[in-house]
Amino acid sequence: MIVTRNSAAFRYHGHLASSEIDELEYASLRIFECRRGLLEQRGRLGFVRRCHGDLHLANIVLIDGRPVLFDAIEFDRNIASVDVLYDLAFVLMDLIRYGSDAAANRVLNEYLARTPEDNFDALALLPLFMSMRAAIRANVLLTRLDDQDHSKDIKKQAQAYYDLARRLICPSPPCLVAIGGLSGTGKSTLGRMLAGAIRPPPGAILLRSDVMRKMLFHVNEIDPLPVAAYHSGTAETVYQKMTSKAVRILEQGCSVIVDAVFARESERSAIRSAAGNMNCNFVGIFLTADLETRTKRVGQRSGDASDATPEVAARQETYDLGAVDWTIVDGSGPPEQTFDLSAALFASDVQPTKAWFTP
Ligand SMILES: Nc1ncnc2c1ncn2[C@@H]1O[C@H](COP(=O)(O)OP(=O)(O)O)[C@@H](O)[C@H]1O
Ligand SMILES: [Mg+2]
Repeated sequence: MIVTRNSAAFRYHGHLASSEIDELEYASLRIFECRRGLLEQRGRLGFVRRCHGDLHLANIVLIDGRPVLFDAIEFDRNIASVDVLYDLAFVLMDLIRYGSDAAANRVLNEYLARTPEDNFDALALLPLFMSMRAAIRANVLLTRLDDQDHSKDIKKQAQAYYDLARRLICPSPPCLVAIGGLSGTGKSTLGRMLAGAIRPPPGAILLRSDVMRKMLFHVNEIDPLPVAAYHSGTAETVYQKMTSKAVRILEQGCSVIVDAVFARESERSAIRSAAGNMNCNFVGIFLTADLETRTKRVGQRSGDASDATPEVAARQETYDLGAVDWTIVDGSGPPEQTFDLSAALFASDVQPTKAWFTP
């Protein structure tokens, strides 16, 4: 068992406080016991298979802007046969270690979008998977301590991985963030910017009504749907599916951002109640921007799941939004401004650093 082997090695090296080693081991084994059924089920479903096996950042190189993986575990089928999310956890953890929380979040969201839906039900494994990967890295570095020339630096690096292992194993409670607003107010842009900054790592899972509608009709994300796909009955189904998926993710301890127009009071109250029922922190943001700004943005947008046209954006001006009891945020300025105004609404769920990527 890797957890106990890690602890034994930490004790042997003698550089770390033994009470901390005990704590990390205890917390890891506790999660392992809680998640044993899920881990076994993942194996039965075919998610344990021959993977890269050693996917930290030093084994990924960018060639012509594309990441290329190398130095996989080729010599041992057993070590290389892992849960696919355990493989992914290595790169997520290492990106977080180097302060690229936004990149880790983007990798995870893109991975989930391209892989079977079952992975959404295994998110509860990430704290254990990422923490174990960090502990392994700490251990590998500690074994190199004999090299006197670099020992101080290596010790510092090992400590950083070890501290990360301890942080990742006890994630803070998740939160639900809802971003509403008419087309072109910048919801999806803000969602992408906020996701990597929201605790716990690796940030919030993004759920977009536009993407869920495309899934419902079994079409690709950017393929346009006919007008009939936008009648109120379908909208209701999309909001319901989005809410239940958000709950399914929150239950596993991951934060969620839901991105939809949320024009009706009933839609806004349903998602807020879902958070309330789970005793989960809720932040509701309703973006606004003048019609000229929105139509210009919608007209210039390409390669997006939204089918809204400038005409649709104009028609939305007639919507009766009812009482908006979410925080109304001006989204008409540059994306950084919308981000700053929105990030200020979070108490402790957003990391203080601006760890977001440019949209
Ligand atoms: N604050 C902003 N300033 C300038 N352009 C923006 C801003 N927010 C979004 N955009 C651009 O406008 C278009 C619409 O933004 P998007 O986030 O897709 O809006 P929504 O999801 O609310 O419909 C996109 O092409 C996006 O890049
Ligand atoms: Mg959008």
